[in-house]
Amino acid sequence: MIPIIRKQNKPAGAIFCLLLALTIHQTMTTDVSPTVVAPETSSHPASPVPPGPPERGNYNVTNATDTVCLMARMGLQLNISFISSSHGTTVQEVLNLHPNLIKFSGSCAPDFATLKLTEDNITLTFSFSLNSTSNKYHLSGLELSAALPDMAKRLVVANTTLNYMVGTLGHSYMCQKEKTLSVTQDFSLNTFQLQVQPFSVNGDFGAAEECELDEDDMLIPIIVGAALAVLVLIVIMAYLIGRSRSHAGYQTI
Ligand SMILES: *[C@@H]1O[C@H](CO)[C@@H](O)[C@H](O)[C@H]1NC(C)=O
Ligand SMILES: *[C@@H]1O[C@H](CO)[C@@H](O)[C@H](O)[C@H]1NC(C)=O
Ligand SMILES: *[C@@H]1O[C@H](CO)[C@@H](O)[C@H](O)[C@H]1NC(C)=O
Ligand SMILES: *[C@@H]1O[C@H](CO)[C@@H](O)[C@H](O)[C@H]1NC(C)=O
Ligand SMILES: *[C@@H]1O[C@H](CO)[C@@H](O)[C@H](O)[C@H]1NC(C)=O
Ligand SMILES: *[C@@H]1O[C@H](CO)[C@@H](O)[C@H](O)[C@H]1NC(C)=O
Repeated sequence: MIPIIRKQNKPAGAIFCLLLALTIHQTMTTDVSPTVVAPETSSHPASPVPPGPPERGNYNVTNATDTVCLMARMGLQLNISFISSSHGTTVQEVLNLHPNLIKFSGSCAPDFATLKLTEDNITLTFSFSLNSTSNKYHLSGLELSAALPDMAKRLVVANTTLNYMVGTLGHSYMCQKEKTLSVTQDFSLNTFQLQVQPFSVNGDFGAAEECELDEDDMLIPIIVGAALAVLVLIVIMAYLIGRSRSHAGYQTI
């Protein structure tokens, strides 16, 4: 009787550990493969030539006394729809801005700041507003003017009631992940590896406030770690209970 109980306990613990390792391995491998495959198959029909992520540029605006008053670094990708003069129909185009081709300027007022980027026939203007009561700033406006060779007429779109990149005065706003800012029906802006500070710049970026996307990224490892810790605890407890039971078996006989 006794040897049988002991033999059953140890393999059971080992099998449980093996199963655990297998399930962890499987969830990790099944997690990876669909995320890699899915975007490639689904994005092909949408845009014929999807560009890669855009290069990141540095844009610093200075005030009248040559002090940097607005700082931004980001990669920018335009997603626009317009009437094509060659096809005669509405087409969707995704294009990257190139930091080395961009000329930039801007303005800084106590509660309103702008950043204007120009590349060839494309001009993109950011407007930031500061609420001096709450000491919060946000991206309140985006304006795009573009004349691409295939456009029937110049595209000019603007939205001055946006509420993106909300940050606290003295801090910078950061979003490492790609983020889509919907502006109008014909225009959305994709930002990459973004950090901005439109007010109260003091030589360099202030402490960063991160967007929800980046925070979600931190949350996943924490949840996985906690789940693993719980599983390990269960295994240890199962082992200990198994041991004390086989000991009890010894003592009664
Ligand atoms: C903007 O300022 C930052 C920090 O001072 C600096 O690293 C960067 O080179 C500046 N960029 C430009 C274009 O002046
Ligand atoms: C430029 O910015 C610096 C630092 O914020 C400030 O001390 C200075 O008064 C500003 N100059 C003008 C003309 O606004
Ligand atoms: C561009 O916008 C269209 C329409 O809103 C959307 O279907 C498409 O996924 C967007 N593409 C990118 C790369 O953002
Ligand atoms: C500024 O913030 C205060 C407090 O949150 C709010 O009551 C007020 O409506 C805001 N002002 C503007 C112009 O958004
Ligand atoms: C810019 O616009 C002008 C006039 O509309 C046109 O001749 C030129 O080819 C455009 N340049 C680019 C790079 O699209
Ligand atoms: C401007 O943006 C706001 C907020 O995203 C949206 O509700 C509104 O429809 C936009 N206006 C236009 C003209 O697209």
